[in-house]
Amino acid sequence: MTDKSSNTVWHNATITRSKRELLNKHKSVILWFTGLSGAGKSTLAHAVEDRLHQLNCRTYVLDGDNVRHGLCGDLGFTDQDRQENIRRIGEVAKLMLEAGTISLAAFISPFEKERALARSLVPHGDFIEIYCYCNLDICEQRDVKGLYKKARAGEIKHFTGISSPYETPKKPEIKIDSGSDSLENCVDQIIALLVARNIITP
Ligand code: ADX
Repeated sequence: MTDKSSNTVWHNATITRSKRELLNKHKSVILWFTGLSGAGKSTLAHAVEDRLHQLNCRTYVLDGDNVRHGLCGDLGFTDQDRQENIRRIGEVAKLMLEAGTISLAAFISPFEKERALARSLVPHGDFIEIYCYCNLDICEQRDVKGLYKKARAGEIKHFTGISSPYETPKKPEIKIDSGSDSLENCVDQIIALLVARNIITP
């Protein structure tokens, strides 16, 4: 995106990301959870955060439903609005990366292009895409929020998986079977990945 604000000058911080990481005793990273509504992204993100918190890590969950009450409250679910939603969250997650935090972003983020854009904002290796795989039938059976029923009845337009597409991630860092694996098992897999990448020490 081109900046509209001219006459602004970037100020370099004295307290850098690496200083914050030293203080925190872990690296910062973006954990990006993508998948259908009802696939378990938020549940998993919060469970991973819980485990990281117990390991004394600085964390923050950015959640689609919550963010859409504030920062992205002006956006709906057209392709264009979803693109802007993900662009904003990508920028917020980038700031959090600089702030030394492990951010856990749980958004349907249905389009490959926007996920790639969010990834491109930060250095290689700082964006971990977690594909929460759960097939549509299971999401629809769960229907925790009753939204699939409404979407099928035509009461909600552009509903992902029903009347709006979800582009399956081609090369996520990790694919989690959130439709059938236990929550505990899913959390273990993500923590193991963070240890293997030297982001945290167990
Ligand atoms: S995204 O597509 O822009 O990434 P986001 O994750 O922020 O979506 O929001 C998805 C949440 O909004 C869903 O979990 C659901 O609770 C709610 N929602 C409301 N309308 C829709 C819709 N048309 N499609 C998908 N989710 C919707």
